[in-house]
Amino acid sequence: MIVAGGAVYTPEGMREVDVHVRGGRIERLEPWTHPRAAPEVVDATGLWVLPGAIDAHVHGRDPGFPEKEDFGSLTAAAAAGGVTTVLDMPNTLPGVADAPALETKRAAIAGKAAVDYGLWGLLRSSSTAEQVRDLAAAGAIGFKAYLGYSVQRSTGQVLYTPGGLDPDLEPPASYGTIARLAAALAESAVPVAAHAEDPSVLLSSSARVETYADLLGTRPAIGEAVAVAAMGALAANLGLRIHIVHLSSQAGLEAALAGRAAGAHLTLETCPQYLWLTDYARLGTVMKMYPLIKTVDDREALRAALLRGDIDNVGTDHAPHTDEEKLRHPLAEAHAGSPGVQTLLLSCLELARQNGEALAAVPWVTEHPARIFGLYPRKGTIQPGSDADLVLVDPNRRTQVKADAMLSRQRRGVLEGQEFGFVIRAVYLRGEAAAPGRGEFLRPA
Ligand code: NCD
Ligand code: ZN
Ligand code: ZN
Repeated sequence: MIVAGGAVYTPEGMREVDVHVRGGRIERLEPWTHPRAAPEVVDATGLWVLPGAIDAHVHGRDPGFPEKEDFGSLTAAAAAGGVTTVLDMPNTLPGVADAPALETKRAAIAGKAAVDYGLWGLLRSSSTAEQVRDLAAAGAIGFKAYLGYSVQRSTGQVLYTPGGLDPDLEPPASYGTIARLAAALAESAVPVAAHAEDPSVLLSSSARVETYADLLGTRPAIGEAVAVAAMGALAANLGLRIHIVHLSSQAGLEAALAGRAAGAHLTLETCPQYLWLTDYARLGTVMKMYPLIKTVDDREALRAALLRGDIDNVGTDHAPHTDEEKLRHPLAEAHAGSPGVQTLLLSCLELARQNGEALAAVPWVTEHPARIFGLYPRKGTIQPGSDADLVLVDPNRRTQVKADAMLSRQRRGVLEGQEFGFVIRAVYLRGEAAAPGRGEFLRPA
């Protein structure tokens, strides 16, 4: 196949070249004037040809919660949004805390996956070094510690509560868990990620919740700052690579930058919701997610950090629930999490466009996550030898986000109604259309 006549995003900048694809990989880039002899020539005139996006933070809910999402609906939504690689979080059922659970999950999702995928491993407070080593050998893309989320021992389900006295609830993985397992984690060479909200801050802040301001009082930014500072200390002292997911506050950001300045190997992810929104009155409970979307000042600080390169990647924390769980409860009981994978690429391009250069967004969702997770240069770049994951974008047409067009099971997301100055025209996964069962399991290199 040849993708012909487009403006191609390459490591050397935008180039007027054709992309020659063979066997699912990029074979070579040739000037537009080079002869175009191939069984299939795709006309990309007037379009941008970008590397397929990587969403390093999705909750596909499979196996375990098909009423919220499954790997078929997740990856259909991803492909429609130009996301050709997803890294799926381990709070499926059972939590992916050992190699057998990872293998069970692989078997459950393989036939449904329409895009390529990597799988996160779960750290439990009961995790052993052997489980960490076996998960790394099984191909876990990283290890996730949900500080503040307990695990139900009988089912292996991760619950959004620190637990308490219920003997069936295992206390959350903690800073101590990470320190105890540091040797095995460092040896695995993949990032250790934390849901960085300090459990002791959350427990001390609990109060009655009626308004969004009340909710913010229960999960304040200081919880993120404290947890990020602790993760920085773990990284600096124990030689770990730590990845902070869904960074949501200026205080958390400043703690991360201080950790880096002190020598910690910290990489940072934020999400479109923290870069766009603060408007609870308009969005209602759809906007409830952990960490909470905070203030305009937090949003501006995160935007500035992303634009100057202090934040490494944007993932979505795509976390669908049923309409019943999201919309038919008061704020205190509505489930936390909302979908986003389908709007990742366009929302990032739009944000960067508003700052003057749309293409500045491309590394946030391609090269940077590919490098963090050991997928570069197979993924995240357009160069000879890389997978032919290509997204054709029309920069002269607009897309408005509408629930009807969303393929995730939770159709109404937080970017509902937003307009982006781009349209996705075509998406290729290793040179062909994305389709259920075509997605492959990715191991970190
Ligand atoms: C996530 C979920 O529902 O799995 N929810 C959320 O509010 N972000 C869990 C998480 O990422 O912490
Ligand atoms: Zn989280
Ligand atoms: Zn998440």
